[in-house]
Amino acid sequence: MSLADSSYKQLDLLAPAQKFSTFIIEADTPQFREHFNLSSFMFSHNLAGHPLFEIPRLVELANTILSKGESTKVTCQLGQIPVNLKWSQVPRKDQVLEAIARIEESGSWILLKSVQLDPEYNTLLDQIVVELEELTGVPLRKEITWLDAYIFIASPHSITPYHIDHESNFLFQIHGDKDVNVFNPRDRSVLTEEEIEHYYIGQLDSANYTDEKQTKASVYHLTPGKAVHHPVLAPHWVKNGSNVSVSLSINFCMRSFDLQARVYQINHYLRKLGLEPTSPGQSAIKDYAKILALGILSKRQSKSKFELLRSGVAKLNYLEKSATKLKNLFYR
Ligand SMILES: [Fe+2]
Repeated sequence: MSLADSSYKQLDLLAPAQKFSTFIIEADTPQFREHFNLSSFMFSHNLAGHPLFEIPRLVELANTILSKGESTKVTCQLGQIPVNLKWSQVPRKDQVLEAIARIEESGSWILLKSVQLDPEYNTLLDQIVVELEELTGVPLRKEITWLDAYIFIASPHSITPYHIDHESNFLFQIHGDKDVNVFNPRDRSVLTEEEIEHYYIGQLDSANYTDEKQTKASVYHLTPGKAVHHPVLAPHWVKNGSNVSVSLSINFCMRSFDLQARVYQINHYLRKLGLEPTSPGQSAIKDYAKILALGILSKRQSKSKFELLRSGVAKLNYLEKSATKLKNLFYR
């Protein structure tokens, strides 16, 4: 699928050949082939010390993104936040230059999205995707429906709260260290069907952290040169170590998981009707019917990740509200 949003990656422009002099990812192929999108794992890379991740270059990158009118791609937060804080409650201000200047102060972070808007980072992303395709054995350039690269700059001890994502993620640690806590997305004692369903109808902070769940976390201590993969819907939270941290996050949606999301979305409405819906993967024919039903309501050419994932649900909500209005009009 070719996506029209200028900020995220046009997959048909991905270079087939390697552009960096050496491989970025240093890993054994069986690990990637066996665990990709099934369970989290750590691997090595050679981006530590790369000039694209020095603070002055990152300030230039932030300015480049802002100068292209993409102010929503640059966000920051000042001060400490607790691990159980919901994403939607995190205060954010577009004060990136001030935040970078104060990065040594505890608890701050800056998030730069769509760093591929700068050609040098675009080249880097190209190569990582080509390498991941080789390592996973999955034809990613065909399967990916949305792709983006983020850079996190975070001060010592700052926390990214517990949450889930629809995207597959590869997180590369460049400077400083951090503990990445990742949970099994298929363990229903950690992540319930209802939490996933609520996430897919738009409640992005639906996953709930409890101290009891923490014993089930895989904790990866990332240092420069280490990276971690977390699969689609794997709950995770992150705590930085005692130095300024710089990380590169490669995120992408895949066609098969976009379709699975539709099953969860329909299941939400079935549950609202008092039914006990069948989970994805339990019945191929039920999954197909749900995917088909929501597919009819979804936009064929998505112009954003929101449209890709939620245009069908938005239409369904609109129809539900219209039906309620008609009912009230005629049967009041
Ligand atoms: Fe995340």
